[in-house]
Amino acid sequence: MDKLLINGGKKLSGRVKISGAKNACLPILAACLLTKGEVCLKDVPLLSDVHFMKKTLERLGVQVYSSDDGLKIKAEVIHGEGPPFDLVSRMRASFLTAGALLARRGRVRISLPGGCSIGRRPIDLHLKGFRALGAKIEETCGYICIQSKELKGERIYLDFPSVGATENLMMAASRAKGITVIENAAEEPEVVDLANFLNALGAKVSGAGTKIIRVEGVKHLGGAVHTIIPDRVEAGTFMVAAAVTGSRIILDNVILDHLKAVAAKLKEAGACIKEHSDGGILVNGENCSRPIDIKTLPYPGFPTDMQAQFMVMLTLAEGNSVITENIFENRFMHVSELNRMGANIRVEGASAFIQGVQRLQGFPVRSTDLRAGASLVLAGLVARGRTEVLEVNHIDRGYCRIDEKLRKLGADIHRVKMEEDIEAETETAVPR
Ligand code: UD1
Repeated sequence: MDKLLINGGKKLSGRVKISGAKNACLPILAACLLTKGEVCLKDVPLLSDVHFMKKTLERLGVQVYSSDDGLKIKAEVIHGEGPPFDLVSRMRASFLTAGALLARRGRVRISLPGGCSIGRRPIDLHLKGFRALGAKIEETCGYICIQSKELKGERIYLDFPSVGATENLMMAASRAKGITVIENAAEEPEVVDLANFLNALGAKVSGAGTKIIRVEGVKHLGGAVHTIIPDRVEAGTFMVAAAVTGSRIILDNVILDHLKAVAAKLKEAGACIKEHSDGGILVNGENCSRPIDIKTLPYPGFPTDMQAQFMVMLTLAEGNSVITENIFENRFMHVSELNRMGANIRVEGASAFIQGVQRLQGFPVRSTDLRAGASLVLAGLVARGRTEVLEVNHIDRGYCRIDEKLRKLGADIHRVKMEEDIEAETETAVPR
């Protein structure tokens, strides 16, 4: 696995273009299974997760071609009973193919996605919704078989506004008979992007972005051209990069409306964020040193996917901060690594108590998951001396060329390819 070498202490400046959103792209790729029509997706981010979802579609017999600015997808025929175990076990988001395959073929066999490093991540809400639509579900030997001769629209109340469950059910309902109403639905911008994509195919989805989504099933879906929304978590990560290094940078391809909670919290800490006269969003992190408290919540609350990055900023604040993680039960794995770099963080239950310190010190650290890995890169940017971030594959799942983008802004950061992986990577490499 590659590692990143970062010599900290450099100010950042200039512009960075934010890529298309991973969390919008993955469900939209799954939704391509709903139609025989040709789909053209633009602003597809070059990420390993996207690569694995593309592979999942290909293994199901779908034709996927890369074009200059994205992907062309045609699911004329679908082979097999469901996505292969090796890809579902590698990437939880492959489970998003279940709703589309159930709607298109009346049956899907898929392995249980299991837990992951940030928490248990059950799928009970997805299954509850499929059952409500009339599907029968059997579990055997780690596989789930979901089937229904005809899905029928129904009212479904989600006990928690799960992003994945909302998306899977929207896809299944789009070809069900009658009207489905999803109550307590997730309101994330990525859910809205999926709804817009489904509607471009000919579906009838309304209310996405609110707690109640209504889907009127249709018999036929066609093709569409769709541009993926910008990645709000990548944008937020670069905003924090400006804040921790005390720099001014401009972000292009950002929808600030999707970043209200993140921008509000950065401003509370002392940053200045505004639209730039030449376009883009200017982030001035020169005076970002106030301690703040954060509670992660479903959208429009503060995103769990930005918690680790903010924690780095707060390790250097002038005072004490508290971060409470309300979405995932095990999302503080970056804490021990940050403490090894000189931070003063104590975890009690779902809260991390952060006492600001004068400086962080470069150190070899290991990324354990995507956002934890990003936080260690941010820590490396501001730490004194050299930081080595190991297991960069976690970061590559969700950040498009993070090292190149940061280097262009003036950071001293380099990727070291690890010898033993070069052979394996020629098999699985994301096109660059
Ligand atoms: C998505 C995002 C992920 C983000 C998360 C929360 C994608 C590909 N990933 O993940 O980056 O961190 O939303 O914003 O879009 N839950 C259940 N039962 C279920 C489903 C979920 O109890 O059937 C729980 C989960 O364990 C978790 C919470 O609900 O505690 C939120 O999960 P969910 O919103 O489903 O997250 P994902 O869709 O997996």
